Formats: sequence, C-alpha cells, structure tokens
Amino acid sequence: MKVRATAAKVMFQVVEQGYSLSAALPAAQQLIPAKDRALLQEICYGTLRWLNRLEFIAEQLIERPLKGKHRSLHYLLLVGLYQLFYTRIPPHAALAETVNATKIMNGDSFRGMINGVLRNAQRQQAELLQAADKNETTRFSYPRWLLKKIKQSCQYGYVSVLQAGNAYPPMWLRVNLSRQSREDYQQQLAALGINSTPHASCASALLLEKACDVNELPGFAEGACSVQDAAAQHAAWLLEPQANELILDACAAPGGKTAHILEHQPALKQLIAVDFDETRLQRVAENLQRIKLNATLIHGDASQPEQWWQGPQFDRILLDAPCSATGVIRRHPDIKWLRRAEDIAELARLQSSILDAMWLQLKPGGTLLYATCSILSDENSTQIKAFLERTTDAIHVPLNEQDTALQPGWQIYPGEQHMDGFFYAKLTKQVTA
Ligand SMILES: C[S@@+](CC[C@H](N)C(=O)[O-])C[C@H]1O[C@@H](n2cnc3c(N)ncnc32)[C@H](O)[C@@H]1O
Repeated sequence: MKVRATAAKVMFQVVEQGYSLSAALPAAQQLIPAKDRALLQEICYGTLRWLNRLEFIAEQLIERPLKGKHRSLHYLLLVGLYQLFYTRIPPHAALAETVNATKIMNGDSFRGMINGVLRNAQRQQAELLQAADKNETTRFSYPRWLLKKIKQSCQYGYVSVLQAGNAYPPMWLRVNLSRQSREDYQQQLAALGINSTPHASCASALLLEKACDVNELPGFAEGACSVQDAAAQHAAWLLEPQANELILDACAAPGGKTAHILEHQPALKQLIAVDFDETRLQRVAENLQRIKLNATLIHGDASQPEQWWQGPQFDRILLDAPCSATGVIRRHPDIKWLRRAEDIAELARLQSSILDAMWLQLKPGGTLLYATCSILSDENSTQIKAFLERTTDAIHVPLNEQDTALQPGWQIYPGEQHMDGFFYAKLTKQVTA
C-alpha cells in the first residue's frame, strides 16, 4: 500500500505542482524499500501515460471530484484505475492495496468511496473504455492543444505517432567504436545472454531485446558503451567531424552527443561544449570522465556567444537546441502534462535566436547541424525554412529524399525503426570570393 500512496503523491507533484517525473520519482523511490521501486516506476509512468483516459473514466464514476486537501486521494484513484486496466497485477490485489493506502494518506473516510469506484470500474471496464475511445484526447491520452499540433505536424501518420508516444521505450546502446567493433561488442553481450540487433544504418547503434541494468553491460564503467537512442546517435555521423577541426557542441548537457563526437573523431583540434545549466554541465564532465575523453566545458548562453567565446570561428557546430521534447514522450510521459501550448512559440523564438547567434560563430565553408528531439514543425522544418530565408549565406544540405527546399530537414518520427522522434537539418556556410 505504501507504493500506491507514494505513486499518488508523485502524480500530485507532477500534475498539480509542475515537478518533472525525473525530479519527483527518484526522491519518492527513497521512501520505499528497494524491492518495490520497479513497481512504483511502472505505476507512475503508466498513470501519466494514460492520465487523460483515466481522468475521463474517473469522471464517469464519481459524483463529486475530490478537492483541496483530499486532492492526492484523487490521484490514488487514478493509480488504482491504471492497475486495473493496464497491468497484470491481479485485480483483487490492485484493489486491496489501493484501498488500504487511504489509511496512510489520512483518507480513512474515503476508503468506502474509493473501494466502490474501483469495483464499479472493474465491472464496467468494457463500456468505460469504449466511451473513452469516442474522443481522440481520451483515446490516445494527450492534451487537446498538443494533439492538434501533432496532427498538424504529422498529418496522415499522426495516429501511429500518438501511439508510439504511449509505448514502452526500448533500450539502445552506442558502442564506443574507438575501442571495439559493434560486432565484437554484440558478441560480448551475447556471451552474457544479452541479445541485441544492430541498427540498419546507424553503425554504432545496438537495440537490446530487453532493457537491463547498465552494470550488467561489459565494460560500461570503462566507457565501452553508453546508453543512447539510435535517433540521437545520428548526430555525430551527420556532423562528420574531421581530424584537426575546432568543433562547438552548443547546448551540450548531459553530454551524450559530446562524447559521441569525441569517440567518432579522436583527432579533433578541440571540442568546446557549452550549456546554460551549470548543474547539467557537471553531468557532461561525469560522462566524459567515465569514457576517458576530454572537451572544454563552458557554462554559457548559446544565444550570446560573445560573452564566452573570443576564439576563431568553428569548423563545425552541433546545435542540439532546447525544444518541446515531444519526440521523446514515450520516455518522459510527464511532458504531455507539463508543457503548455504557449511554450512552443517561446521555444521557437529561443531556437531562432540561438541559430542566428551560432551562425556568426561558424567559419565560411563550415557546417552547422541543427537538431531537436521534437516532432513539431514549428521547431523543425518551419524553423529551418525561416532561417534559410533570412540567412543569405546559408546553404541547405539535404540529408535524404524527404529533406527538400519546401520542407527542409529530416524528421524521424517516434517508433520509426524503434527510434525516438528526432529532427536534423544540415547547413553549410557559403565561402565568399
Ligand atoms: C536537448 S538538450 C541537449 C542534449 C545534449 N546535446 C545531449 O546529447 O546530451 C538541450 C540543452 O540546452 C540547454 N540550453 C537551454 N537554453 C540554452 C541556452 N540559451 N544556451 C545554452 N544552452 C541552453 C539545456 O540546459 C539543455 O541541456
């Protein structure tokens, strides 16, 4: 019952107080025994995945919503519904554990009500789910504004994009190819009973059949591999860093791509990694330390490079811009409820100011790779199209046949080849005579 009460508290913190799941969950994990932590995680992620749908179902069954100091019991109810409708926890156990949690939540007087609602839900499950299916926001469990934006951006494929956002994310590894070949590492994994599949076109990526603890991965502590989605692994390959080049990784934290660029091209002149968030920049240092790689880390604002860079212009810049993260909803279902419609225009303005500032730091003939983990066109093709229109010395380098002048960039949709949603656009700077 402690797990259910703790899950209800986490839901309250995320949905009503605006905490991210990655902040609220680790703190809550400390309050329960280690053996229950996986279950807490499953319940929190699942309840957030299906929040809109569960809210709709709760609405059909309760007379008056729980308010004020009893609000966290409302989330206990949703946690109960999630277990009944979406997990293999035997219904009698889900019910008993959830109802008993009212005791430790000072909600004894609501015990009967919660018990009654959950029993009714169990009896009417088929009809309730059918009713929830009638509306796309409760069928796919997305806020209305985001569903509309995804529909506009993804057009005909939007249903599979919405569904992919509700799927369990796979675990991808980036093999450190400066240490061993992907085939060698795959064999080392197989020898330990860890099965994997290579990505068809991203030569460093291995998809694990089943997620596992990183400590089970051979050589992980020494940097033989890292955990990174295959979509994100395309960055270093598309940037194509060359020996003796000066490279800027703008918006670098926590440093997944910084490390990959260094693994990919060990003979760089220098790699500068910049981030606005000092705490996250510390994670870049930790990641590089594990893999035994070196970069120059700078705490700075990428939209104001004159404040932290007086050196020469860069040969290549990776701009992994701050974005809505709508391509990684399957990994962070809280994004659906934490983002607001007005955030998107604000993010697009920030991205365009960083793009303009970075462009001035790129040398003629240099390459800038723009990346986001968004699936919204405002942050992606529309952003790059506007940049190309206002920047006369920018040349668009198509990455594939999908990447056209009309709709520049390569949009990877979540679930495509088991990858996260991601966007890349490659630009080079004209050399003037
Ligand atoms: C998508 S994440 C980067 C992920 C990173 N490239 C990686 O592969 O691990 C975006 C980063 O942009 C940073 N950021 C946001 N606004 C910034 C700004 N104005 N200047 C520099 N960094 C910024 C955030 O702190 C965040 O770490």
